[in-house]
Amino acid sequence: MEPLRVHITAYGCQMNRLDAELADDLLRAAGAEIVDDPAEANVLVFLTCSVRAHAENRAFSNIGALAERKTREPDLVVGLVGCTAQQYGPEVWQRAPLVDFICAPGRLADLSDLVREARAGRRSVALDPGRGKEEREAFGESDARIDAVEVRGRRRVGRSRQAFVRAMRGCDMFCSYCVVPNVRGPERSRSPAAVAEEVQRLVDRGVREVTLLGQAVNRYRFEEAGRAWDLADLLEKVAGTPGLRRLRFITSHPKAMTARLASVFRDVPLLCPHLHMPAQSGSDAVLERMNRGYTAAEYAERVAMVREAAPQVAVASDFIVGFPGETREDFEATADLARRMRFASGFVFKYSPRPGTLAAQKYPDDVPQKEKERRHRQLLDLISEIASEENQAFVGRRVEVLVEGLAPRPHLDGGPERGMQKGWKQWRGRTPCHRLVVFDGPPFGGAPFGSEPQGRRQGRPDLAGELVTVRIDRAGPITLFATLLENGS
Ligand code: 5AD
Ligand code: SF4
Repeated sequence: MEPLRVHITAYGCQMNRLDAELADDLLRAAGAEIVDDPAEANVLVFLTCSVRAHAENRAFSNIGALAERKTREPDLVVGLVGCTAQQYGPEVWQRAPLVDFICAPGRLADLSDLVREARAGRRSVALDPGRGKEEREAFGESDARIDAVEVRGRRRVGRSRQAFVRAMRGCDMFCSYCVVPNVRGPERSRSPAAVAEEVQRLVDRGVREVTLLGQAVNRYRFEEAGRAWDLADLLEKVAGTPGLRRLRFITSHPKAMTARLASVFRDVPLLCPHLHMPAQSGSDAVLERMNRGYTAAEYAERVAMVREAAPQVAVASDFIVGFPGETREDFEATADLARRMRFASGFVFKYSPRPGTLAAQKYPDDVPQKEKERRHRQLLDLISEIASEENQAFVGRRVEVLVEGLAPRPHLDGGPERGMQKGWKQWRGRTPCHRLVVFDGPPFGGAPFGSEPQGRRQGRPDLAGELVTVRIDRAGPITLFATLLENGS
């Protein structure tokens, strides 16, 4: 049989990006070559997202577009993995008949078996247990298998030397609009020992920045030998990893924000001052229907608590506009919260009714699409304006940046021109507070602008993965433009 050549496409959140890296690790361990060009692959794996209809439709339409190729290449294997697999199960075949296997997020460890079955001409489905009490136990076995893959920390380390590490799986919050509790199952925290071991292994392989992941990661709780660990305890433990330079965690639920966790921002220098804590709405009536479990005033109190402990923390939020029954006044309350909180950044989503969620069952999707779009635009503009004002405070400051790679496209309006004239490249990276920085730096290997050179060439530094010091010259709503001062550490 032809050697395995796999291409992986991931949609959606950081959990999916981590799952894509694990899929890469698992399939390489099974002898596969991972290819960048889908045309060269004989196995196509899609890591799907069901959070909004848009992400789901994109995956289905990209899979659907393979129909002609599948007729030409009947041996081509197409796998649908992740949240959409669990959401629809075998019904996936009604929408995408050419799919060969369907694999839930918790069954990732079965991936190479599923590929093998598909190559032998057999279709298969690997789903997670449901959410009932008895099924909770059943997650244990599949979690243990994927945990063993995660903990060995053997997956490919990107040039930026950043890595995601799972702290928790699943979600028990049941926000009324959200599919996650249905598709990723009940909340399960990993043991502090497993998390710390994985982090150490990744750091030993060159990782400098680790982001601990969980849907509501500040609900982390692990009981062991009479001791209950929370996220603050876990962060303190992981921050002690020799060689680790930066630590982050996402995403936090406002309801689970504690003074103890806020104090970790103050007391643990390695912990980056960035808190992603979605407000979703600023209207108490909407928050109630969303089942978020807090009021706008309580949200503001939690932010104040964090800022009191550590004023340097950049707070970022997500918002949903056009939730069922959201009036103009409700929307104004959201805009008002954004104005008062002065978020460093924010994502705004148009409400998308999702099958199987409480909101889709209970509340008609009654805000017209045009109005959703207007509110979306208006809130984005407001967030940009505030972020831009906040970013001006950085102008003139020296900041440390972890370089992620070359900027994907030149910011001709932003860069100090002199660098460009010397033939320097534009690089991009992140401040500790997660702001995006673009600066000119020494060329690397002479690759065309925007392409990612592979490997280091003699005498030409590759800045990706380096911690450099820059001076901020100019600030926009999203990007800070800077000059390189110190080159690498
Ligand atoms: N419609 C729109 N946005 C949603 N999100 C989650 N579910 C939905 C939905 N049904 C948003 C929330 C969450 C982010 C990851 O996606 O803002 O924080
Ligand atoms: Fe969804 Fe709410 Fe859980 Fe986040 S906290 S994954 S929005 S249910």
